[in-house]
Amino acid sequence: LDNGLASTPPMGWNDWNAFGCGVDEQLVEQTADAMVSSGMRDAGYRYVNIDDCWALPNRDAAGELVPDPAKFPHGIAALADHVHARGLKLGIYQDAGVHTCSKGGGFSGSLGHERQDAMRFAAWHVDYIKYDDCNVPADGQNVDSSIARYVAMRDALAEATAATGQTIVFSVCEKGDYGVPNSAWPGIGNLWRTTYDIHDNYGRMVWILHQNVALADLAGPNRWNDPDMLEVGNGGMTDVEYRSHFALWAEMAAPLIAGTDLRTMSPATREILTNRDLIAVDQDPLGAQGRPVTDGADGHWALSKPLADGSRAVTLFNETDAPATISTTAAQLGLAPSVDYQLRDLWTHTTTESAGTITDTLPAHGSASYRVTPSRWPSVGTPPHVAVGL
Ligand code: DGJ
Repeated sequence: LDNGLASTPPMGWNDWNAFGCGVDEQLVEQTADAMVSSGMRDAGYRYVNIDDCWALPNRDAAGELVPDPAKFPHGIAALADHVHARGLKLGIYQDAGVHTCSKGGGFSGSLGHERQDAMRFAAWHVDYIKYDDCNVPADGQNVDSSIARYVAMRDALAEATAATGQTIVFSVCEKGDYGVPNSAWPGIGNLWRTTYDIHDNYGRMVWILHQNVALADLAGPNRWNDPDMLEVGNGGMTDVEYRSHFALWAEMAAPLIAGTDLRTMSPATREILTNRDLIAVDQDPLGAQGRPVTDGADGHWALSKPLADGSRAVTLFNETDAPATISTTAAQLGLAPSVDYQLRDLWTHTTTESAGTITDTLPAHGSASYRVTPSRWPSVGTPPHVAVGL
């Protein structure tokens, strides 16, 4: 969606993966505080996002959504103030249907209330909407209706922004339920889910990788494929698997929405989530989604992401259950010929030189990530841009 609000993939946190329906004001405030004290904010994380179950089941007499006073005693505007005071932004969840997804549809959706709700979110100073597509009317369970529901909210948000000045990132959470062509979403959302929900296990994470990696053509600044939020730190995968999860999401220019309890995360989890070299890959201004160099059919992957400075971010990933040696070359990555290449290891943050081969022996489910940069051109020994003008 060409609104300038997501020139790089959004980064933040959302409560759903760790807490399900258990969101409340204290959790959101403490998470905002933890985002600052843990270094997450300084690493680039901005959005603190409330998921489903924040509202009362029904609207008030004026048709307005009402935050559950037991969960949000001070309301959403006061919470936005708390979050904004820490240099962060607030997100909230809504649904395009009659009811949200949770508890068999316990909470009011926005169908037919799009303009009123968009104005309400803007008045609360909400910066980001995740918009789900559950519990739609029986005659609305088809591609065209789904698109129309999202267009209605996209347009309502644009009107609310024009009226109030409050900008709102639009996160589309339609999961392809009706086989909606993904090509419709870049004009509608800043990001759009490409799969059903992630779960905190290795098989499900890889299942999502296989689907999302094929959609690289759609991604770019202000429009990102969303393979769902991160499970890093939630306990269902090993740290080796979580490192692969994080590296693969960065390689795919995915939104990086942490989904664990930031107040109690382990040092290993914090180290993964704040890996600046991988965050720089994810947030690279060129906005290209990485693609497989080898097709991954044997479970041995090499993914390559072009970066704005002409280098490539490479992730070698061993999907299989046995150790494996995986290799690629600078030529396969599409890099210019060079006498040698600098390989920056994005986990150890050290640089070595290579004649052009990138190879690693990886444990089951393990990965390695590098930034590969040509360092000496063969013809004159200096890069062409240095020679120009001499
Ligand atoms: C389905 C979404 O995919 C999840 O991320 C979460 O938002 C739930 N709905 C909430 O009901």
